[in-house]
Amino acid sequence: MFDRLVTVYERMNHILSLQIDRYWRFRASRWVRGRVLDLCSGSGEMGAALRRVSPHQVIGVDFSRPMLERARSFHRLSWVVQADAEALPFPDHTFDTVTCAFGLRNLKDPLRCFQEVFRVLLPGGQFVILEMALPHIPFRWGYAVYLTQVLPKVGGFVTSDYSAYRYLAQSILRFDLKKGVVREELHCVGFHSVEVVPLVGGTAWVFIAKKEK
Ligand SMILES: C[S@@+](CC[C@H](N)C(=O)[O-])C[C@H]1O[C@@H](n2cnc3c(N)ncnc32)[C@H](O)[C@@H]1O
Repeated sequence: MFDRLVTVYERMNHILSLQIDRYWRFRASRWVRGRVLDLCSGSGEMGAALRRVSPHQVIGVDFSRPMLERARSFHRLSWVVQADAEALPFPDHTFDTVTCAFGLRNLKDPLRCFQEVFRVLLPGGQFVILEMALPHIPFRWGYAVYLTQVLPKVGGFVTSDYSAYRYLAQSILRFDLKKGVVREELHCVGFHSVEVVPLVGGTAWVFIAKKEK
């Protein structure tokens, strides 16, 4: 699905989120420090946001080759690796920060990914997850209607890929129901503290999980 969307992916994100996705990434990037691995890096927008705040090289990981090629050609991210976020090809204790923007709800086995992230982080390192959900009341139900009724139609009409935008809406709704257990799962794999920060009324959430020093 992501291979198919590569040429329209970023433009559609900006249209459907009214450009707010740029702000979500900017906010999440403020937690980043040191050597960074960006999981589910896609076309490289998060990598580009991270490059603005990190003096270090950012390594992007995604399993979609077309997305990685776009990251290389459009955002000039030269360090990209085609790999599965659930089986990372890096040694233990390599990175200060691992990020994952809008990738978590697409993973088959998030717990496996969390274990891998914990393994490749240095002691004292942190995992920064950015993901979309439904906003707080009173906007919650209006937003749910937008997600299920408007977004798939607009996304489908512009790209002719209705199933991709139905999937986007459904995966956000599923994540909203599941977001309460993310903290527990992060603790379960060994992270000693997890901070959870809602952005823009809860339309996106940042989880900052820290590994003990
Ligand atoms: C919604 S996009 C997010 C892209 C980017 N992080 C952003 O901020 O726009 C999700 C990306 O996750 C990738 N992905 C999904 N599951 C993956 C996995 N198990 N391993 C690596 N990449 C994965 C997809 O190929 C896609 O590029």
